[in-house]
Amino acid sequence: MTGKSPKESYTIMNELVLPNDTNTLNNLMGGRLLHWMDIAAAISAQKHCNRIVVTASVDNVSFQSPIKLGDVISIEAKVTRAFTTSVEVRMDVWAQNIPSGTKVKSNEAYYTFVALDNDGKKTQVPVSLPETEEEIALYEGALRRRQLRLILGGKMAANDATELKALFFGEQLPLNLKA
Ligand SMILES: CC(C)(COP(=O)(O)OP(=O)(O)OC[C@H]1O[C@@H](n2cnc3c(N)ncnc32)[C@H](O)[C@@H]1OP(=O)(O)O)[C@@H](O)C(=O)NCCC(=O)NCCS
Repeated sequence: MTGKSPKESYTIMNELVLPNDTNTLNNLMGGRLLHWMDIAAAISAQKHCNRIVVTASVDNVSFQSPIKLGDVISIEAKVTRAFTTSVEVRMDVWAQNIPSGTKVKSNEAYYTFVALDNDGKKTQVPVSLPETEEEIALYEGALRRRQLRLILGGKMAANDATELKALFFGEQLPLNLKA
């Protein structure tokens, strides 16, 4: 199975914020943005895997400033790292107001997807081949983010999170975290 670079999964999705997408303050509803992000990230994951994918997890997403009715949302998504059957997708979300010429970063997020075969079973995904410095940094950081989300999802014991332990404690592990 040949590998794929992040640019092969690069996806950009644009949406115009319409009245039906907003709350009573005329701001984009957070849930609607998460829905669009799920779609953009799934398309990116599909491009990497050439498979149907399902969302396994959504990392913490914070909304830094309100997005207004009439703004254009741009969601940029790309696969940062493939593991065995799963891929991590990073998204950068921008809110643009075309008449006033402003464009601000709304949020960043990581979603994880699992690839399925034609029988709906988990299946192996192509490896990631990062090329640029930024892609390599995202690739390396993906291991720590994966361990954190697996611990939070109840899929990994904190004691097994070697990357996180090294990050937080270096060689000086507290007694209760020593293997
Ligand atoms: C996601 C799903 C396929 C995982 O299946 P599972 O049998 O529990 O999976 P496993 O524990 O064997 O893990 C399979 C892969 O998923 C990853 N994974 C599982 N839970 C995860 C989580 N909470 N966060 C991130 N990755 C996760 C594992 O790390 C593993 O990746 P790897 O093969 O690359 O190492 C399964 O739970 C599922 O189908 N969930 C529903 C998906 C869905 O409907 N999404 C839409 C939600 S509305």
